[in-house]
Parts: sequence; structure tokens; C-alpha cells
Amino acid sequence: MNAGGFHVIALGTVGSTNDELRRLAENGAGSGTVVWATEQTAGRGRRGRGWISPPGNLYCSVLTRPRGDAIRALQLGFVTGVSLVDGLARVLANEARIQCKWPNDVVINGRKAAGVLLESATDGAGGVDWLIIGIGINVVSHPSTAELLYPATSLAAEGVVGIGARAVLSSFLEAFASWSRRWDEEGFQVIRSAWLERALGLDRDIVVRLDQETVTGRFVDLDETGALVLAVEGVRRTIAAGDVFPVVA
Ligand code: BTN
Repeated sequence: MNAGGFHVIALGTVGSTNDELRRLAENGAGSGTVVWATEQTAGRGRRGRGWISPPGNLYCSVLTRPRGDAIRALQLGFVTGVSLVDGLARVLANEARIQCKWPNDVVINGRKAAGVLLESATDGAGGVDWLIIGIGINVVSHPSTAELLYPATSLAAEGVVGIGARAVLSSFLEAFASWSRRWDEEGFQVIRSAWLERALGLDRDIVVRLDQETVTGRFVDLDETGALVLAVEGVRRTIAAGDVFPVVA
């Protein structure tokens, strides 16, 4: 499959598409190489969690070789979030509310439908050798809420019928080609604004679970590094890593 300038390598069952692509990256594969698998036996999520990966859903990883430093490279997580929202909006074509949830998740009607795992290697000279964007999208099924930190959904559960992982992948890649071009040409500001326009919980109180504490505050911004900016009792607090939840009344 050659979708919009991407070279897509379609595989059956793998451990993790990120690991498959990492091997290719280390052997010199070019930016735009994509590994797509029908099933994963060792799918990984953020913060050391697993990603349950039965057949029917989309599991893919996109290889990028961004110029600049690691901070700039991580902006690609937000390029991906915006592209997922736009790519999914095209296949959903109904009234579903599709939003970005910080840092890189996508929720449909408040439930998580897609997750993103970024992994990278430096080039030893202050730059990035490769950054792999691993993407899981619940197309036909999703784990039960009892197994998860955050309630999940799938495209099927949101009323999408007759659209498989292949169509979802090409819709995403089309959006990603366009947003990554804009990021490269115009910089992060345009992505930051697009992401904030699609953000879940902006200007509302949210709960953020960090490794050692839980913080509640008003979600006011995304800074230039992609960190979440909260107003906590009137004081701005910047958070680089954590899990976002709605405030339970
Ligand atoms: C998360 O929300 O925690 C991120 C989930 C990322 C899952 C995808 S599935 C394809 C790629 N391969 C993996 O092992 N993980 C990512």
C-alpha cells in the first residue's frame, strides 16, 4: 500500500508495530515508512501500560526523522492528535464529538477511541535520529471499562459500520500528511491552535494524575513544548506528563 507518500508495510500478527518499525529504522528505513499489523501480542501503551490488540482494530507505527531537537520532535504527538481527529471525523460522518485529550489521545463522545505512543532515539549530536509514532485505534472493539483507567469506545460502538482498519489508516495518513506539512512549513503555533480547538476540557476543571500526586485545576493552555498548563487556585502550573480525567462531581 502506498498512501499519500507513505510506504505502508502490512503485516499479520506481531509483538508490537513500534518494535517492528524500530528494527527497520535502525537499518536505515526512511521517514514515511509505516508498519501496519492486524494483531499485536505485546502491544504497549503510555507510561508502561499494555495495549490490548485483538484483530479488527488498527495498530500502526509511522517513522519520522524530524530535524531539530527532541522537544521539537515531540510536537509530532500533537500533529498526530489533530490528524486523528480529522481523519476519524471523515469516517464517522455523524454527530459524534471527536476531541483530543492531552497529551495525544482521541476521545469520541468522551470515551477513548485512540492512543498514541511516541518512542525516539537521539543522533548523539543534539538531534533526533528517529521518532516512531505508534497509533492504536479501536475500530470494531474496545476493552471493557473495568480493564482500563479511562472509559473506552470504538468506531463500531459509535455507529460506524462497514469501515475497516485499512480505510481508517488511509484517512488518518491523508490528514497526517497535510498537518505534518503545515507543521514543517509554519511551525508549532498552527498545530497548537488546531489542537486547542479540538481539546477536551479546555477552560474547565480537570484532574491530572501524576506519578506522585493528583492535581485539580482549570485547563487553560498548551505551552510551546506541548506541556499542559493548569490554573491551580489562581497559580499557573505546567505539567509535562500525566493522565487527564474529568472532575467527578
Ligand atoms: C496509550 O494510549 O497508552 C498509547 C497506546 C498506543 C498503542 C499503539 S498500537 C500500535 C503501536 N504499537 C504498540 O505497541 N503501541 C502502539
